Amino acid sequence: MGDEILPKIGILGSGKGSNFGAILRSIQSGDLPAQVSVVISDVEGAGILDLAAAHNIPAHFVAPGKFRARLDEEAESSCIRLLTEHGAQWVVLAGFMRVLKGAFLEAFPERIVNIHPSLLPSFPGLRAWEQACDYGVKYTGCTVHMVDRGIDTGTILAQEPVPVLDNDTPDSLHQRIQQSEWILYPAVLKALVSGRITIRGRNAFWKR
Ligand code: GRF
Repeated sequence: MGDEILPKIGILGSGKGSNFGAILRSIQSGDLPAQVSVVISDVEGAGILDLAAAHNIPAHFVAPGKFRARLDEEAESSCIRLLTEHGAQWVVLAGFMRVLKGAFLEAFPERIVNIHPSLLPSFPGLRAWEQACDYGVKYTGCTVHMVDRGIDTGTILAQEPVPVLDNDTPDSLHQRIQQSEWILYPAVLKALVSGRITIRGRNAFWKR
């Protein structure tokens, strides 16, 4: 299959990019029929940008502006412009630590996906693995969901449970959740870009 007909994915991340790494491995192994056309970070020098550059993928830092939890208008337009210039058909959040607002959602309606380290709707927001430890649940996990205006509230596409062990620390639990994420995220993206997931309101239906 030639590159030109593969669906293009734009990635947004703020951290080390291990999920992005898993997506790349899945593409390289021929399992995920897509190409990453651009990687954008709100954190200068983020690992995810280095990883993109090491794979010759356009990597851009966009200064987020004055807000702590979201992008300012200028940053938002820069991101939308970069994604559009690079032909991104899907926007994949991989550890992106800011909420996306209206303009973003309007530019990519039903085309923005996120992975969250808990079984939503339990434990939305920050440090979900620590919230799970503190609460004392026996199972947590990870969730891939569409992005809407809320925080981790969009339609759920897939979930993978992970047991909480008696001797878990927040860090050990987070590590095991991440291992599940590296399998789940590429698998969901594969189904999504291949048109095997239909979304109706809060429900996502998979064609196997
Ligand atoms: C993951 O745990 C993901 O669930 C959350 O942010 C983390 C990103 O990690 N949204 P990485 O940058 O992909 O390693």
